[in-house]
Amino acid sequence: MGRKKIKKKGVRKNRRSREKIKAKKIDPSSPKSESKKELTISAIDDGTVIDHIPSDATFKVADILRLEKHDGVVSIATNLHSKSVGSKGIVKVGGKSLTQDEVNKIAIVAPDATVNIITNYNVKEKIKVKSPDFIDNVVKCSNPVCITNNEQVNTKFYVVKKDPLKIRCHYCERNMGKEDIQII
Ligand code: CTP
Ligand code: ZN
Repeated sequence: MGRKKIKKKGVRKNRRSREKIKAKKIDPSSPKSESKKELTISAIDDGTVIDHIPSDATFKVADILRLEKHDGVVSIATNLHSKSVGSKGIVKVGGKSLTQDEVNKIAIVAPDATVNIITNYNVKEKIKVKSPDFIDNVVKCSNPVCITNNEQVNTKFYVVKKDPLKIRCHYCERNMGKEDIQII
């Protein structure tokens, strides 16, 4: 008897989900509005917008800011068309201001990024990040036998080239490109 009941339940559930899908069906004859063609990311009232991020660094910026732990509004968009960068990402974080340390880290993965500070829906400040000459204790050395991966030694890199980024480990002299960069 118990088995019969379960079976019945399953059938009913299926019917319900079919109905749901039907209800969502799009009518192709309905007029298309402009707003449907252009999806915009909502403006934020207070917080920070990081703009002009190279698309392949968008999620690295989200990682640097540890946004999975942030409880304010977070919007992340990537592979957007941009006249200046070609393809860019934007990260909008409500209710957060960045520390200098976070801005410095962003500059490593997104040297052309702009950090916009938003107050009461207005851009109060626009900061162009600056590529550093040295990177101290931010990036992990990709050489497994490097002293920094085996002893309690902070990493230190020299920026050899800014675009595309090339850095050299102070300790083992390994050269690393942007694809090798892993933020600590
Ligand atoms: N922005 C936002 N919320 C606001 C104000 C601005 O999310 N209340 C975002 C905009 O969508 C944009 C960025 O912050 O991505 C910078 O805004 P603004 O300076 O107005 O845009 P642009 O002039 O296009 O910036 P830039 O010259 O740096 O390209
Ligand atoms: Zn090293």
